[in-house]
Amino acid sequence: MSPTVEIHLPADHAARALAADVRSGLAASPKSLPPKWFYDARGSELFDAITRLPEYYPTRAEAEILRAHAADIAATTGAHTLVELGSGSSEKTRLLLTALRDAGSLRSIVALDVSESALREATAALSQEYPLAEVRGVVGDFTEHLALVPGEPPRMVAFLGSTIGNLLPDERAKFLGALRGTLLPGEWLLLGTDLVKDRDTLVRAYDDGAGVTADFNRNVLRVLNRELRADFDVEAFEHVAVWDAEQEWIEMRLRSVRAQRVEIAELGMTVDFAEGEELRTETSAKFRRDGITEELATAGFTVHRWWTDAENRFALSLSRAE
Ligand code: SAH
Ligand code: AVI
Repeated sequence: MSPTVEIHLPADHAARALAADVRSGLAASPKSLPPKWFYDARGSELFDAITRLPEYYPTRAEAEILRAHAADIAATTGAHTLVELGSGSSEKTRLLLTALRDAGSLRSIVALDVSESALREATAALSQEYPLAEVRGVVGDFTEHLALVPGEPPRMVAFLGSTIGNLLPDERAKFLGALRGTLLPGEWLLLGTDLVKDRDTLVRAYDDGAGVTADFNRNVLRVLNRELRADFDVEAFEHVAVWDAEQEWIEMRLRSVRAQRVEIAELGMTVDFAEGEELRTETSAKFRRDGITEELATAGFTVHRWWTDAENRFALSLSRAE
């Protein structure tokens, strides 16, 4: 079966959302941009390159957990539909899909991502690899478009890679509440969460020696240059990764190496950067078992299983919608 890729949004939705985020984020003090704008085709490829870096342990740690427990997850959930949010290349997802297929329950696969290029590539590959399942891709924003998620119950929603950590705490609460609202009681959430650990390991994971994360970080400026006719001098911003021990999150920032003025032609906007001024481009929260269990409970999910990798770096939880 060939995959369907559904775009339920008006053609200018992404452009309008980007314009609104840039207008408010770059006029604010301190300046910030939401991380979802990293992921054009190049950004999605750079993220995949990050997952292969020696310093970036989360992908390997989560894959280790999935390899060990996918059969248990399939048996426990008996899911007919696997819905993946922020699916990217859906690489690790194959471990789940194969377990669900081998358990005989898999009927459909739904992948939702803002990155249309990543989604098209991933759904084409999945429909070849799982020919008996219906494969659907949905281009959308998981903070806004959960109501668009189709699929035959019982569904398991997989939100892997600790992408939930890229939402701020209030956005996270809103997201989990909305997700619970789209599920029926008894359906499942499989959630990947990176765990709090020593500062050096964390900072290394976000400031690798080969500079791939720096390139990924700067990519958001290339997106603004192309989509909004901005004139950022991309090389005039340096990559910064800081561990905020109080908030327990990594912040990625872009630091202006000199005083500079940027024109954003599409928005008729001029933005001044002082020398050394920083633009926040991402927060990546790290979790503790008690904290995320409580956040899930507040949203109406009960944690049913909790697994970590052998080095206790990353956790995967399987929760039931109550
Ligand atoms: N799940 C994969 C990819 C993680 S990278 C993994 O675990 O390796 C984060 C993915 O989420 C990217 O593919 C990005 O395009 C997508 N994404 C980021 N913000 C999003 C949003 N608000 N709505 C939908 N997708 C989003
Ligand atoms: C997708 N997300 C969970 C990644 C993270 O670790 O926060 C994005 C990333 N940013 C820098 N490196 C990877």
